[in-house]
Order: sequence, then C-alpha cells, then structure tokens
Amino acid sequence: MALRADQNSKPTLRRDYHPPAWLIDQAELTLKLDRDTTRVHARLFVRRNPDSDASRAPLALAGVGLTTRAVRVNGNPVTHGQRRHEGEEMIIGSVPDQAEVETEVEIAPSANTALEGLYAAGNMLLTQCEPEGFRKITWFPDRPDVMTRFRVRLEGSRSEFPVLLSNGNCIEQGELDGGEHYAVWEDPFPKPSYLFAIAAGRLASISDTFITASGRTVALQIHSEPDSLDRLAHAMGSLKRAMRWDEERFGLEYDLDVYHIVATHDFNMGAMENKSLNIFNARYVLADHETATDADFEAVEAVIAHEYFHNWTGNRVTCRDWFQLTLKEGLTVFRDQEFTSDLHSRPVKRIQDVTDLIARQMPEDAGPMAHPVRPERYVEINNFYTATVYEKGAEVVRMYQTLLGHDGFRRGLDLYFQRHDGQAVTCDDFLAAMGDANGRDLGRFERWYRQVGTPTVRAATRFDADQGELVLSLEQSLPEHPDNADLGPLLIPVAVGFLDADNRPLQPVLVGGDTGPSETVLLVLDREREEYRFRGLQADALPSLLRDFSAPVHLEYDWSLEQLARLAGFDPDAVNRWRAGRRLAERILHEGIKRPAGLPDTVALLASAWRATLSDPALDPALAAELLSLPSEAELAEQCEQVDPEAIHRARTDLATYLADHLTAELNAVFQRLDSDRAWSADAAEIARRRLKNIALHWLSAASDRTWSVQAEAQYRRADNMTDRFAALRALVHGNADEADAALADFAERFADDALVMDKWFAVQATRPDPAVAEVLPKLMEHPAFSLRNPNKVRAVVGGFAMANPVAFHRADGAGYRQVADIIAQLDVINPQVAARLAAAFARWQRYEPGRAERMQGELERLAGGRLSPDVGEIVAAALRPAKR
Ligand code: TRP
Ligand code: ZN
Repeated sequence: MALRADQNSKPTLRRDYHPPAWLIDQAELTLKLDRDTTRVHARLFVRRNPDSDASRAPLALAGVGLTTRAVRVNGNPVTHGQRRHEGEEMIIGSVPDQAEVETEVEIAPSANTALEGLYAAGNMLLTQCEPEGFRKITWFPDRPDVMTRFRVRLEGSRSEFPVLLSNGNCIEQGELDGGEHYAVWEDPFPKPSYLFAIAAGRLASISDTFITASGRTVALQIHSEPDSLDRLAHAMGSLKRAMRWDEERFGLEYDLDVYHIVATHDFNMGAMENKSLNIFNARYVLADHETATDADFEAVEAVIAHEYFHNWTGNRVTCRDWFQLTLKEGLTVFRDQEFTSDLHSRPVKRIQDVTDLIARQMPEDAGPMAHPVRPERYVEINNFYTATVYEKGAEVVRMYQTLLGHDGFRRGLDLYFQRHDGQAVTCDDFLAAMGDANGRDLGRFERWYRQVGTPTVRAATRFDADQGELVLSLEQSLPEHPDNADLGPLLIPVAVGFLDADNRPLQPVLVGGDTGPSETVLLVLDREREEYRFRGLQADALPSLLRDFSAPVHLEYDWSLEQLARLAGFDPDAVNRWRAGRRLAERILHEGIKRPAGLPDTVALLASAWRATLSDPALDPALAAELLSLPSEAELAEQCEQVDPEAIHRARTDLATYLADHLTAELNAVFQRLDSDRAWSADAAEIARRRLKNIALHWLSAASDRTWSVQAEAQYRRADNMTDRFAALRALVHGNADEADAALADFAERFADDALVMDKWFAVQATRPDPAVAEVLPKLMEHPAFSLRNPNKVRAVVGGFAMANPVAFHRADGAGYRQVADIIAQLDVINPQVAARLAAAFARWQRYEPGRAERMQGELERLAGGRLSPDVGEIVAAALRPAKR
C-alpha cells in the first residue's frame, strides 16, 4: 500500500460529487471468524439508482486488501475477464439492472495493525469502518449515500468468541459442530457501511435498562475485558443521563431495543457511533475514582453522550459524502457541549471549550492544512477528522442558536429531522432547514462553510458628544487564502456589553435596535464594516466584546492593561472575564519574551487580579480554577512573529515564579482551606474543591521556596483518588522535586497492570518541561508497557513529547525532531492514521527561528524522500508546499 508522497497526491474534490450509480437495498453477510483468516461471504441485493446521472455505469465495488475467492452475479461465476480493477475498485460489466451479487473473500485480522476494518484487539475481534474501513472487510460501494439494511451472521469458536455482536437485534443464535456457535443480527434501519460493526470475543458486561419517554424499554449493555468489569458503572450512568437529556432538550428518543458499548484498549480515536454497537477507546469508558481523575470522569460522560447523540445526528440523518462530515460532527459536538453545560457548570464548560478552540483549532486554521469546516478537497479523508471540522464546526452550529435563539434553533432542528430522517444529506440541507423553520434568509451565513482560516474582527470605540452616543465600529477580514477570494463578508454574531467606571454592568440601548436596555446586546455584523450607536453610556464605558465567544474569530481592540485587569476582575460574562485575564497575561509575556531577561513591571497588575480571584469567597471554585490560568507555550508561540521556544519557556516560567512568589500566602491559604481528609465523593462541590486545590498546588510548585514539595509528596501518599494523586505526581515531576523519582517508582509499581493509568505515568514524564527529556524518550519507549502498536501509548509518549513539550521537542540541536521523524517513519508502516497525527507536529516549521526551521524542514524532506502512506504523505506534502502567506 505504501506509495511515494508525490504519487498519491491526487485529491478528491467536493464539486466532483455524483450520486451513486447503484444502490444496495439489502446485504447479507456471513463471517466465519478466525484471528488469522476470517472468511467473509456477502450477498448484495443491488439495483440501478433511478436518480443517478450515469444510467449505464457498470457496478463498481470498493475493496482493499481482500483475498477474493469468488464473485457471482445471480449465481453465475464472474470470471477474471468479466471484471477489472481500477484503484480500489472492482468493476463488473453487464450486471442486470437488478441483481444478486455474491462475493467470498478472506481477510487477516491478526495482521491488521492499522486498526481499520476487522482487527484483533486483545482477545477480541473488532471493526472500525468510518470512514472507509468497510472496504477492508468485503467488496461494497463504501460511501455514505448508499444506505443498506444489513443482516449479519457471525460464526466462530464458542470458547474463543463466546460473545458475538453486530448492529441491531439478535434474531437467532445456536450451536454448530466442532465447538462452534453462531448468532444472526438484523438492523432494521438502512445505514451506510461506515456504521457497520461487529465485536466478538471473551467479553464481560454489565446490563441495565432505560425506559424511553414513550414508554419503551431499552436493554443497555456495556462490555469490556473481564478485569475491568468493576469500572463500567460511570459509563452506564452517563449513557442513561444522555438518553434522558436528548429527550428533554431535543425531543429525541432512542429507536431500537438494545444499545451496546464495547471498550477496547486498541483504538485509533476516541469512540465510534456504529448503530446500536458503539465501540470505544477504553479511556472513554472505564472509570473509578482510584484510577481516573475527575477530568477523566467528565470526558467519559461527554464521549458516551457524543456517540449516543450521533444516533440522530449522524445515523438517522447521515452525510451524503465525506465533505459533509461537519454536518454530523460539528452538530454532535455542539450537542455534547450543551449536555455537559446543562449537567455541570455552563461557564466553566464554555471556557474549557474556548480554550481548546484557541489552543488546537486556531493553529490548524493558521497552518498548511487549513481548510473550511466543509473541506473542498482531500487526499486521505482520515486526515480531515480535525479540530476544524469538529470544534469549529460546533461553533458554526452554536452561531445558529445564537442568531435564532434556543426556540428558533429547536424549530430548525425539528424541521431538519422532519425533512431528512432516513436520508444522507448536506450542510446546505441543514442550513435550509434552519432558515425555513424561522422564515429567515441565511444565505450569507453559508459562507462559514466555505471560508478558510480564522476571521478577524477589529473593534474601535469613540464617543459622539453631540449625540451623547457611544459609537462602536466593527470591521471584519479574512486571512489571505485563494479559497477566500471573492467570498464577501461573513455574518458574524458579536455579543457586547459595557462596564461603568466602578466596574458595574451598564444597560445600554442600541440605537435602531429592537430591544430595550440590556446588559448584553447581540450585534450581527454582515458587512465589511459597520457602526453601532449606543445610548445610556458615558464616554468612559469599558467595552466587553465577543461575550461568551459568540463567534470563532480573533477579536481585536486596543484595551489598556488596566482595562484588561478591570475586565479580568469584574466582567459578569465569565468567558470574557477569563479572556481578559489571558490577554493581560499574554501582553506581559510577549513583553518578557522580547527581553533578554526579566518581566515588565506591569506584571503587578496580573498578580493583583489573581489575588482578587484567590481571595473572593463568593466565586465558584471551579470558575476560579479556570481564571487562574496562563496561556500555554504553544499558544504563545502562535502569537509570535518568529518563534523562539526557549525565550517563551523562560518568560512563562519567570511569570509563574513571580506569581507564585508574590501570592504564596494566598495560594497556601486556598490549598490549606480546600485540603481535606473527607473520603472521595463525586459530588460537584467536591470536584470543584479538588480542582481549585490542585490548581493552587500547581502554581505553588513554581515558587522559589521549595517547601511545596513536602505538601505534594504528602498528598501523593495519602490520596484516596486519582485526581489528587496524579495532581501531586505531576507537580513533583514537572517541578523537579527530589521526591519525584520515588513517587514515579511507586506509581509504576501500584499501577503496573493498568494500561490506562500507565498512560498517565508515561505522559507525565514525556511532557516534563526539560530539554533533557529528549534523552528520556527512547527509555520510555523501551519500557515493557510501551508498544508502538498501541495508539494510546503512542499518544501518551510520542504525542506528549512532540505536541505538549515544546522545550524538549524543539531542542536547539534537533534531537527532538530527529527522533520524532524516525518514529513517524517506523509507525507509518504499522498505523498510518496515528503516524499522520504525529506528523502535524512539524506543520508550522516556517514560523520558527531559522536554525530550528531548517532542522524541521530537513526532517520533513527526509520523510518525503521515503515511502509514505497517503495519510502521512498528505501532511508532509502540505507542510513542505511553499507558503503563500
Ligand atoms: N465518528 C467518530 C466520532 O466522532 C470518530 C471517528 C472517525 C473514528 N473515524 C474514526 C473513531 C476512526 C475511530 C476510528 O464519534
Ligand atoms: Zn462524532
């Protein structure tokens, strides 16, 4: 399969879409399961698509890596002369307009290290079909607009595969000769092949039931390897909460009698929404308080909910083609964000999502792989499961809700399901439903699906003394990119408010607006430049702009540092309060980065903002924890003209030490007040308490006075839960405490047999901010618990090093770059999808100072000179393409 990078760069284009020439109404599959050689027999009931524009096109079936034993049409063998192969397709001439096509193939699950198609994971056999994995199982028109009713018969050894699962309902099972047994599954809902799944093996499970709003009983089952059976309860509770929430918030009920979730340690991504048979990375299923942190618990709940929500947004209504991926992913991420917000703290969740957008998505928007939320072209679709499609896509969906209101959004969603249930549709269909349900022309909003990069909104204010009005002007612009030419202005919702001189919220009136005085006013910017006039404001009113991060844009305004400090202390909009603190820190840090040493005096402003936060007893501790944060080194790098990772690291470390030294008493007071011997509980107040306490410990570990390590060591030892234990371990390791090595050794011994906890042990070492970690990397990879075949291990060690340890990865001598490039080449042969994710670490080489830029470019060229998968090839080629910006 490996191809030269320059040979596999023929992209698929969105505008080349054609409806399928053939449809498959029904498929009957029989799999004779065996780890080494599984036989797959398929009977496909095919017919010509009356809506196709190619009425004479021959039947084309996709297949990759299949050993084909037989092909028959209506029972007659198709000889080699009657079929030909083009790329991944087998083309069969002269098939009657309606026919039964049979194929028999062999596949090798145990040799499948790419974890796509049918593969062996521990003692299970599992499938992963999205986006194009089904073609690795059998010949099929493997595209999402072909929707088929599947009936699946699984046969296999009863001792090796006591559990046999597929989509839908089990309609028959029984014994066969020679210790074998079988099960037949039927899914009554037509679905695209990417939602097909099977899971077979020695699985243990817990069961529960859910009664839907209309009174139907659904059997819920969560499966894992037997040794983790006692860690499934939180996932089950999460699933039931998600099912209830979707009924209450969106009127969406589950539609089958069974719902299965299977957890595996061998998985390329987070989880997969296969109809009624979700397959999950174990890290998003297994949780108990001794092995999972509070953040892990919340992530489990969110991912369980995400996959469940796909049953409507993804499965019942699916994507016409993969360019429409954000139709299901952006919408489903938005839905899981809303779920978490409703169940926990809305402001905290929003701040975390915005943090993630700024840290992960905006760099993508500014890099060589930048693409619209609905891409125009791809070489390898797997490379487009991106923060842009998912998280920026969710922001686009959120903007509909912001513009149409909660009720208007619900009306739009209702119409979308009414029109498109059972169909494979496009982002345009979604937009039309939103517009039509609300009598609104959203034509201009459509540009969000085509624009590339993060737009900028530049704001300015002046006071019109004659009119007694404050004038806010907004001006939008898009980054330079060929795809943005001729696009015209976007429709951008910008929520704004103002504070008076005593930092109290004002209630201005928008001149010409249709609402009375209000604390937050929603402006809709749909021209290049617009002026808005407000009454009821003094000349010195302090603007709070883009409240709740109402659009995924860079908002620019010339706040003074003092103004930022006021917003950081008093903005009633939690997101902007947090954002102002971040902006203040960024301004100070960039000043520090430019200096050979030391920080500007303005650092005192930040210290007093933090002091106020630390000593405000009325503040929600969970929100306080978010406010006490600094931009990461990666985020700072994004904002630099030319990146010098050492200068960034020094400035940020100096600032952390300054804050810790000046706020030692306050941080200690918070730590002592929140430190408690109460037994662990999942109560929200307890979670918030642990969070703020551990943030205090985190910042204390930057202090010049090193006594914090005694507290950290004590917490490490006494902890009855992973949140506290891991926070203490991280402080000790990243703070270079004398106690670190003993704690690491203890941790490895306690959790030696626990794959997920060992991922934490690996990650905490791989991300220790020290250039010497470049020498530790090979040692971590030699550890018996490490394996290049396991994506979680690769992400913990190599991902941690390359993406979350800038001082080590960007070591001036290139030792970080060289090792990671070598690993990418080695991993590409094993698992191209995971290798391609790592390759993104080199994407922004052109922004680094010349020495590092040249070394990174050198590694990219070295990779490009070898044999690469299409996955890695596309990323490397994009990175090396001469920048037009
Ligand atoms: N559709 C999945 C989700 O977002 C993610 C997904 C896409 C995936 N491709 C995958 C998961 C490959 C695992 C492997 O929920
Ligand atoms: Zn998803």
